[in-house]
Amino acid sequence: IDLLDPGKALDLSNIRFQLIRLEDTITFHLIERVQFPLNTPIYDASALPIPDSKLSLFDWMLSEQERVHSRVRRYQSPDEYPFFPEVLETPILPPLNYVKTLHPNDVNVNAKLKQYYIHKILPAACTSARKEAQETFGSSATCDVYLLQALSRRIHFGKFVAEVKFRTETERFVELIRKKDTEAIGDAITNSQVEKKVLERLKLKAKTYGTDPDGASGDGGKVDADAVVAMYKDFVIPLTKEVEVDYLLQRLDG
Ligand code: TRP
Repeated sequence: IDLLDPGKALDLSNIRFQLIRLEDTITFHLIERVQFPLNTPIYDASALPIPDSKLSLFDWMLSEQERVHSRVRRYQSPDEYPFFPEVLETPILPPLNYVKTLHPNDVNVNAKLKQYYIHKILPAACTSARKEAQETFGSSATCDVYLLQALSRRIHFGKFVAEVKFRTETERFVELIRKKDTEAIGDAITNSQVEKKVLERLKLKAKTYGTDPDGASGDGGKVDADAVVAMYKDFVIPLTKEVEVDYLLQRLDG
């Protein structure tokens, strides 16, 4: 997707391509992560204290990485949203001319996403027989950072989808937004057929990418395909819709 090009930033087929491409990224990062145990101490600052910090090891790595990436203007990009807005610094590169496609808004569901990730998504996906292995703490947290950032980007792309839907059916949405009819907005942005297709495609991807071409990965595959599907069905899709609805509710402000 080219967010510097006004013609492309709101082209639905471009957005769709990007979302499907992100499924690959997310599936691969999850395959990487679940080779390690759940490693709960990395999410618990009292179990694994970090000197001079109240953060868990994982939060520490995520916030430090966001700080570094903010200096390379990551969070000026309209498709990137931080988990730790308070740590961001001034970029060392000049700002880019992103097209103003989105209406000003403060929608950011990362706090919720992180909780779901630690407490629901990971426990369901980690099938390792070991509960923890200290020698994999760093590798696990590194995968977590990549995976959560990809999930966050996927979910916040909902803003672009919502903007396209608003522009296509402006009158209908203006009325629902004025009435603050959250439920009707939710229905208006839902396409069950598309959701079903997404889940089917994901299951196939999880099975395919999780299988070695020469059969060396064993019967089960490298990742539990049902856990990937459940992650999308129960968390990614609902959170994306939440982003779309919250964005639309702010669409007439200002
Ligand atoms: N795509 C944007 C860029 O390359 C934002 C971005 C994504 C980024 N990931 C990044 C910036 C990592 C710095 C580091 O500038």
